Amino acid sequence: MSARLHLDQRAGDAPAGTSLFEGAEALGVKVPTSCLKNGRCKECVVEVTGGMELLSPRSEPERHLAGNFRLACCARVVAATGDVRCHTMRRGAMRIERQAFELPARGPRRAPDPAVTRDGDRILLDGAEIARGAGPLHGLALDLGTTTVVLRLLDLETGEVLADSSFENPQRFGGSDVMARIHYDSNDGTRLLQRTLAGYLSHAIGELPVDPRTIYEVVVVGNSTMRDLFFQLSVYSIGQSPYRSVTELEVAAGARATTGLAAPARRLGLPVHPRARAYGLPVISGHVGADAAACMLAVDLAHEERLVAVMDIGTNTELVVGNQHRILAASCPAGPAFEGGQITFGMPGLPGAIERVTIRDDGAITTGVIGGGAPEGLCGSGLVDLLGELVRTGRINALGRFEDGAPGLVVDARGDRPITFNEADISALAQAKGANVAGLRIVLGEYGVRASDLDVFYLAGGFGRYLNVEASKRIGLIPDLAADRVRQVGNAAIEGACIALLSRTKRAELEELVKRVVHCRLETHPRFFDVFVEGCQFAAIDDGILAAT
Ligand code: FES
Repeated sequence: MSARLHLDQRAGDAPAGTSLFEGAEALGVKVPTSCLKNGRCKECVVEVTGGMELLSPRSEPERHLAGNFRLACCARVVAATGDVRCHTMRRGAMRIERQAFELPARGPRRAPDPAVTRDGDRILLDGAEIARGAGPLHGLALDLGTTTVVLRLLDLETGEVLADSSFENPQRFGGSDVMARIHYDSNDGTRLLQRTLAGYLSHAIGELPVDPRTIYEVVVVGNSTMRDLFFQLSVYSIGQSPYRSVTELEVAAGARATTGLAAPARRLGLPVHPRARAYGLPVISGHVGADAAACMLAVDLAHEERLVAVMDIGTNTELVVGNQHRILAASCPAGPAFEGGQITFGMPGLPGAIERVTIRDDGAITTGVIGGGAPEGLCGSGLVDLLGELVRTGRINALGRFEDGAPGLVVDARGDRPITFNEADISALAQAKGANVAGLRIVLGEYGVRASDLDVFYLAGGFGRYLNVEASKRIGLIPDLAADRVRQVGNAAIEGACIALLSRTKRAELEELVKRVVHCRLETHPRFFDVFVEGCQFAAIDDGILAAT
């Protein structure tokens, strides 16, 4: 008799006494590790989604973990029967676009103007020699998302993208949103979140198709918390009113000129050239971080005349509205629901995720699954599609209640477990949507414009790329604008990081531009609660100008 272990879309027998790490190896699933599988490196984190009671109690090396997270090398199957379901921090196969789409084309692309240059056999960083040799010059762009981390390797002399990679942010064990991570890091005192992420990044860098010692600069973007955690700064002040990062406080005190950061990349744990630099794009203010700044670079806001909005929907949604003359920005604490978190069968946009949903006239539900085959769960675009169809067919009302009084429905029954969707899931999505819509309405209101005044609405982010725009408008996730004004631009943050990696001029321009951005603080806005509640409803976004009180 053996228990059954289900891990990353594979399954096999796991006799009592088998560690989850051994079980994974038997199934051919690679689990990250940098130790002797003895609980030291903390990299082998897995999330247990079923059968936790069939595992050994949490051991001393797992003291830092809570909820469903375990170390694969420490957790052992102790039952002789039953099903244990878990997954590693998912790696590699996420659908992240290599290039952002429909970004402003402003004449021919300029020749690269990177900080790393060559003078004969001398390799220079900002004009100072850091190495000698005739080999290639590489740079790395990193987008540290709360949920997903994306890397892109560039040739600094040609600007060519050589490789990219992505993985689920392993810091999830410290909570799914930035406030939870801040709380975790502030109580931990050992920089475990940073070390764990650096460990994962080291593996990802090791898998790039170049010698990592030819990487001379790393440009980092992310929200304020993700960026500062990575640079080993205290994030405590970002979690306390008035929610300002260390660099923002230092700029206000006159102790530094910019919120941009620089540090030796090796000191941050990256296995690149020993004298490589890590440069963090400037943060804007509060939770409006370097990812929003990178999006501004990607859409070339510094030279934009039209009125544009950039909405990067994620666990922390970043919102920027304006043009070169005036820019407002906000950060919306949406939470992870649209990335599959807090949803019964939610999952990232990986093979096995339902990404398309249609409800036919006879009420039957048809689905499209990434990679084909039986579904394992629903990713963000599938969730938006499903909500859009439930609204279109009148199965749910504007409050998200099933009109037939049922507590939920079966979306797809083809897999080994039926994929269901219930009112608690709808409620989590409604609240995430409410936060995004509240942010949008408040920023537009402060700007004194209607959504319909926007010339371009950029929908950024890996999730935004695959959204069904019509369903998104129907449920009120994005404004009801004509199709030619909505641009799904993919990962604009990593695109902005690449622009900064290739251009010192753009970098300097951005450092000045962020100083002119006015931060709309949603948490203290008198209308926040009203517009949040309104935004939770599944109806088109109100086009009126929001009055101040
Ligand atoms: S493999 Fe290092 S802690 Fe588990």
